Formats: sequence, structure tokens, C-alpha cells
Amino acid sequence: MQKIIILDFGSQTTQLIGRRVRELDTFCEILPYNKFPKNDPDVIGVILSGSPFSVYDPEAFSIDLSEIRGRYPILGICYGAQFMSHTLGGRVEPAPSREYGRQHLTAIDLENPLFRDFVKGSQVWMSHGDTITALPQGFKPIASTETVQFAAYQSEGEKLWGVQFHPEVFHSIQGSVLLRNFVVDICGSHQDWSAASFVEATVAELKDQLGNDRVILGLSGGVDSSVAAVLISRAIGDRLTCIFVDHGMLRKNEFQQVMEDYKVLGLNVIGVDASEKFFSDLAGVTDPEQKRKIIGRDFVEIFNAEAKKIKDAKWLAQGTIYPDRIESLNITGKVIKSHHNVGGLPKEMNLQLCEPLKWLFKDEVRRVGRQMGMPEHLITRHPFPGPGLAVRILGDITPEKVRILQDADDIFIRGLRDYKIKLSGEEARKVLAAGVPVAMQDGEIEVSLYDQIWQAGAILLSTVRSVGVMGDERTYEHPVALRAVTSTDAMTADWAHLPYDFMANISNEIINKVRGVNRVCYDISSKPPATIEWE
Ligand code: XMP
Repeated sequence: MQKIIILDFGSQTTQLIGRRVRELDTFCEILPYNKFPKNDPDVIGVILSGSPFSVYDPEAFSIDLSEIRGRYPILGICYGAQFMSHTLGGRVEPAPSREYGRQHLTAIDLENPLFRDFVKGSQVWMSHGDTITALPQGFKPIASTETVQFAAYQSEGEKLWGVQFHPEVFHSIQGSVLLRNFVVDICGSHQDWSAASFVEATVAELKDQLGNDRVILGLSGGVDSSVAAVLISRAIGDRLTCIFVDHGMLRKNEFQQVMEDYKVLGLNVIGVDASEKFFSDLAGVTDPEQKRKIIGRDFVEIFNAEAKKIKDAKWLAQGTIYPDRIESLNITGKVIKSHHNVGGLPKEMNLQLCEPLKWLFKDEVRRVGRQMGMPEHLITRHPFPGPGLAVRILGDITPEKVRILQDADDIFIRGLRDYKIKLSGEEARKVLAAGVPVAMQDGEIEVSLYDQIWQAGAILLSTVRSVGVMGDERTYEHPVALRAVTSTDAMTADWAHLPYDFMANISNEIINKVRGVNRVCYDISSKPPATIEWE
């Protein structure tokens, strides 16, 4: 399959470049800057990302351009553009002041294929401390802003471009047009990367890879592991055994509901109710890290015990997705994020890893789920932490506290699902483009508040008590905090601006119906500096 390679020089926006290319129905891989694949016949073009470095930093990342130059069309973005200019004989110098924010392309070569369909004055987003002050021999400027002379360039007669702005970010209004011009017109993408082609190709590959082997998969009730399970079961049927461990700290009735969903999907699932063990091991533990460690250890123990019963299993499947794996590099070259859904399976089981979603972004996983006809409520389910409500109860954990929190959380989540809002214009277009099955009427679509939010939940502040009055009675009970955030990848998040009437109703309902709670607060912290979970 055709692919674009994005060489990652450590920019915060490298993943965004990947998303934008995928939105053009074109497969792409983000690789560390120095890991260009040798002899991959599927590569049709290369993008060099931005970087936190200046080209003059002694630790600045550098590559041998002769490996790719002349072989593929190349687009350098920000540092990528400066690096090529600097290396090929141009000049890069510190800008008099950092060039940051919105600017307009006051001069553009509209004949240049990179700028097809552009309009003069197009807004772009800049973010760099250095700037190109002289181009290499044979390079020509093709766009400038009032302050940036070489906002974009091309090496004459060669398929090599550089842009000092960021076409991948939302504030570059025609950024996706530029990327389309590069990926489709210049690199010649057939734009045949779609959910349907992915399902077809992956099921065929899995049949090939897994043959008659048995596979084990740990389900969490979340969208990633569920979609992975359905894909694999399409390839090998009930030679896939799924294990779903209930640690007792899932959402209200979630274990039963999810087991029901899995049955309807035809999955072969072993549900293990291990809540007693978890509650007993967690009794009296208040330290958040300690809680996480105990839950992680117990989970692995129980999962392994079940997995070992499947004697001839050869593979462990996981719902790992692309953002879990991308090796983003920070200034020291260390991996920022590493992630594994299931850890520490015994070596003697000798299982090989099968990760069919490892190239997909979250929204693509959802598309694949829809493509396979999975129910919408499973596909749109918010992310939920592995340790469950344990990291949403401050202080020690008891079944009674879990019951209180489950009830409050259930009111909140049901409320979010029931509260409908209308969207039009660009907002509606985005929802429809993602394949969400909603009908447009008079230019508007109706979606739930739940679907507009990345993640929401209630937190029981069980280390806090406050005085209240109910009827004629004085109460002295716990507050519940509500948290709802918007995000695209959970790396950063903002608190959701929920409607006041909604919050008023939810607060009343929780205090009136959930015994043990007499106060409701709303968490208005963004991430960073806060995190999404409280523990
Ligand atoms: P934080 O709290 O770090 O959370 O902002 C970021 C995202 O990760 C989820 N999360 C977890 N997921 N196991 C998981 O599978 C965990 O231990 C865990 N802790 C946090 C969190 O819900 C959010 O989506």
C-alpha cells in the first residue's frame, strides 16, 4: 500500500501531520528522524517535521539528505525546511524576534503546484525562533509574509519544498489544501486508505499471520480492545478467546452490559468476576501509586491464570493504537510516552504479540468499528482508566464508596447522553465526516453532550466531609466532583464548558438520589497542569 513517511524531528505537531495525511485517505508512518526505511517500494513521498531544536544546537537532529533527495518528493515543515536550507548551502539565522502566531501569505506563487487553489493573503501559523535569510543555490522563494521573506521555497526543477509555517495546524486555514497538493498531486497518492480497505486488508493479513493458531485478548470494555477483538474474530472466529476481568470498580452495571454487547458481537469471552480479591487487597490503602500497583499486580495475576488455561495459545492480541506507540522525542532524545495495555505475561507461555490497530489513530479505530457494524454506544464510549473508579475515590476504597460513586457517575453520564445539542456548519461537517450515523435536517444535526466530550466522570472526595441540610436534618457527608474534558489525545485537555441548566439538574439529581453525597463541585482545571484523573 502506498505510504508517506513522516520523519519526526521531535515537534509537538508531528502527530498532527500524520492525522492530516490520513484525512486525505492516504496511509502514512511517523518514524524517528534517523529511521528512514531502506528499500520500501510503497513509499511515495517524505515529510520532514518541525523540531524543538535550532539547526545550530549541537544536539540538533540531522540526517543525510542524499538518502531521500531525488528519490522521493520531499516537503520540509518549519525545522524540516530550515534544516534542508541550512544543509544545502543556504543561511539560517536567529529571527530578530520569535516568529509566532497567525501571519498572512502576502505574496504567493500561485502557479506553483504546492499552492494550487490557494488565495493571496491566506492565513498561516508560524512558530519558530530561527528564520531562513538566504536560500541555497537553485532554490526559489514561492511565498512570503510581511516579516518572513522565505515563508516557502522550492528547489527549482526538483520535487523538494520547504515551508516555514505549519500547514498541519488548524490556524493555517488552507493547510490541508497544501498537504493535499503535496500528497495527492505531487506524490500521486491514490487515496485508497479507508476503513473498508483497512478491514479487508487486515482480516486477510490476520488470516495469513495467525493460521490455525489460538489467540488470547484482554478486553477492557473500551473501544480499542473491542474493535481489535472483532477484527481478529472475523479472521479466526472462536479460535480467539477474550478475557474480561471485573475488578469491581467498573461503572454501574458495566460488566453485565459489556458482556451482553460482546455476546451480540459473537465474541468468545470469558468474564472473570474478581472483585472480592481486589477489594480485599486494596483494603485500607490510601496512597494513589500503591493502589495502582496493587490493581496492576492483581490484574496480571488473574489474567495470567485464565490465559494459562488456554493451553495451546500462541498469540497475545492487544488493542494498542498508534498514539500509544509513536516515539515522540523530547529535547534529551528520551521517549516521552510508552504504553502497554497488558504487562508481564509469564515468559514460559511464549506468546507472540498481535496488534492489528497499531497503525490507527483513535478516530480511525472508531471508523473501523462502524465499518464492521459495531453498536454506536460501544464505539463512542469514553476512555476509562484501567484501575477504574479506584483512581476516582480519594482515600481508601470500600464497596460502599464504589456504590456511591457508581450511582453519582451514572446520573452524570446518563445526563450527558440525554442532553441533546444542535450543531451546524463546520462543527456538523466534522461529525458527519467521521461517519457518525446522524441525519441532517435544515442544515443542523443533533448530537448528545456526551458525544461532544472526550471523557467525563465523577470523583468521590471521600477524605472530605462538609455540612449540609436536608429537610430538617443536618448532614455531614462527602462531596462529589464532576469532571468533563475536551481533548483529542488525552495528552492535553480542557475542561468542558457544560451548560448551566445541565449542571444545575445533575447536581440536584445527585444530591437528592445518592445517599452519602451532599455537595457537587465541577472541576475547572485544564491539563496541564492538572491531569484528567485525580489520582
Ligand atoms: P491523565 O490522568 O494522566 O490520564 O491525564 C490520561 C488518560 O489516560 C487514562 N488513564 C489510564 N488508562 N490505565 C489506563 O488504561 C491507567 O492506569 C490510566 N490512568 C489514566 C485517563 O483516563 C485519560 O484518558
